[in-house]
Amino acid sequence: MLILGIETSCDETAAAVVSDDGARIRANIVLSQLAEHRPYGGVVPEVAARAHLDHLDGIIAQALDEAGIDCADLDAVAATAGPGLIGGIFVGVMEAKAIALARRLPFIAVNHLEGHALSPRLVADVPFPYLLLLVSGGHCQLLAVEGVGRYRRLGTTIDDAAGEAFDKGAKLLGLGYPGGPAIERAAAAGDATRFSLPRPLKGRPGCDFSFSGLKTALRQQVAMLTDAEGRLAPRDAADLAAALQAAIGDSLVDRTTHAAAQFHRRWPEGKSLVLAGGVAANRTLRARLAELAAEAGLAFVVPPAALCTDNAAMIGWAGLERLRLGLTDPLDFAPRPRWPLDPAAAPAIGAGVKA
Ligand code: KG4
Ligand code: ZN
Repeated sequence: MLILGIETSCDETAAAVVSDDGARIRANIVLSQLAEHRPYGGVVPEVAARAHLDHLDGIIAQALDEAGIDCADLDAVAATAGPGLIGGIFVGVMEAKAIALARRLPFIAVNHLEGHALSPRLVADVPFPYLLLLVSGGHCQLLAVEGVGRYRRLGTTIDDAAGEAFDKGAKLLGLGYPGGPAIERAAAAGDATRFSLPRPLKGRPGCDFSFSGLKTALRQQVAMLTDAEGRLAPRDAADLAAALQAAIGDSLVDRTTHAAAQFHRRWPEGKSLVLAGGVAANRTLRARLAELAAEAGLAFVVPPAALCTDNAAMIGWAGLERLRLGLTDPLDFAPRPRWPLDPAAAPAIGAGVKA
């Protein structure tokens, strides 16, 4: 089977061709819009939608070319249909539907979070059920993955996502956008013990997350350290970046430890802990979660960094897993700006728009 995957839900215009045999990823093209959004210090939805519109045709052509196939060889087309920035999602979904209609192919509407959730199965043989820590710019959740389309949420953030904590922290430290990689780079030269930042919810029961108090504490530290011109010394920025990364890490480890205990009780046959989403690209976090998994008696799986940050290979793969189960969608499927993986889970208090 050969599936075309399309991803346009945030600031990456991406297309990929995946297959269920041999080399699973036949092509994986990601065009980052970083340069277009950098002047604004974050993603501007209208700018993103227009950039997707300008580039998607070319990116798809490039993916098909790299895979050495054309549309006639495809078995299905899958596109991210939510959650995310609705303008961009429309661009990807309309393109996928048009190809499906013209080529009489099945269309698969993929939940972006399911793309991240199933991404480990693209690179390793990870059986269901598994415990998933999904950490990205928009989401921070602990889920039991029981199967394709079957997710039980154990915890979520009550305010910011982990990626947001990195991005907002980097902005406060003047390290630029996107924040995650910038914090990781700066932290490598910093001393994580010089400043003590709070660990919101640490030690409290349950598996929910909170990061907004951390951001406030960081803002206060920055205010105390900046000079009259509003400048922060590189040494201070590095030490604060290291402190922030350590605090986020501690809180992820604490909540995931609780989740692992719950997972053992409710899914005793489960054997793996998976780390996925853009924040999973962070090397320190990967090492800390690997340690936790070993202590909890779980195998640790994390996709390579390029498959953790947004890409279309994971969308094509989720489409392939759904197609194998006969789960295709009609061409009038309406994109969903909000689309929780576990619709039965109650919204977290104060969670705002987060699913
Ligand atoms: O999954 P993703 O590419 O997009 C969303 O679906 O949100 O995740 C993007 C997030 C951003 O917040 C970015 O700062 C964070 O992942 N990120 C990282 C690293 N690389 C990307 N966070 C920490 N360390 C990194 N190396
Ligand atoms: Zn994502």
